[in-house]
Amino acid sequence: MSIPRAHPHTPRLIFRDFSRSDIPAVHEYASDPEVTRWSTWGPNTLEQTADFVEEAAQAGIGQDRPSYSLAAVLDGTTIGSVAVWVTDSGDRNGELGYTFHRAHWGKGYATEAVEHLLALGFDALQLERITATCHPGNIGSIRVLEKSGFTPEGLLRSHRLVNGVRRDSMLFSILRADRHP
Ligand SMILES: CC(C)(COP(=O)(O)OP(=O)(O)OC[C@H]1O[C@@H](n2cnc3c(N)ncnc32)[C@H](O)[C@@H]1OP(=O)(O)O)[C@@H](O)C(=O)NCCC(=O)NCCS
Repeated sequence: MSIPRAHPHTPRLIFRDFSRSDIPAVHEYASDPEVTRWSTWGPNTLEQTADFVEEAAQAGIGQDRPSYSLAAVLDGTTIGSVAVWVTDSGDRNGELGYTFHRAHWGKGYATEAVEHLLALGFDALQLERITATCHPGNIGSIRVLEKSGFTPEGLLRSHRLVNGVRRDSMLFSILRADRHP
């Protein structure tokens, strides 16, 4: 098994590739219905969490990777899953997302993580535009994106099919030029 590579730090969190040993910690939050309330996935079975972690770990092995799906680690414990990925290489567009254990909400960790994801997206992945979508009811996520400098672009009507129900999403974007005007 490969040794997970470490990525640069934000002030309190370390971001690194996943390994199989992350499965129990990820499952703590990925199986929590409160955590997945606004998500398009979950609450996960243990098998679903294992599939996610193994796929993310595998994606971390390649060169010229089109995505970073990383564990957010606080004092040695994985407390969140964060990701930034290329959606269109020709147009240099990408997207990001994040999920944290409920015990660690409200402490600024998601905002720290987005700062790290933006650095990876604009520098390592060479993106020009990064988007994020979230359910209009996900006040916490909307606030994280606003604080991180994203611009709301509007409502994507009937954007997602979740457990047989169609849901709207809010679309946010940030451009390289927004960060370095
Ligand atoms: C959304 C989520 C990532 C926020 O993480 P977090 O670490 O608590 O966010 P932060 O601490 O960085 O908060 C950033 C801002 O949002 C505010 N905020 C966070 N959660 C909030 C909530 N539920 N209601 C209102 N404001 C909220 C914080 O107060 C802070 O604003 P402030 O600095 O003006 O006080 C976290 O709640 C989570 O993991 N939710 C489940 C998964 C999810 O919804 N992911 C996003 C899918 S689009």
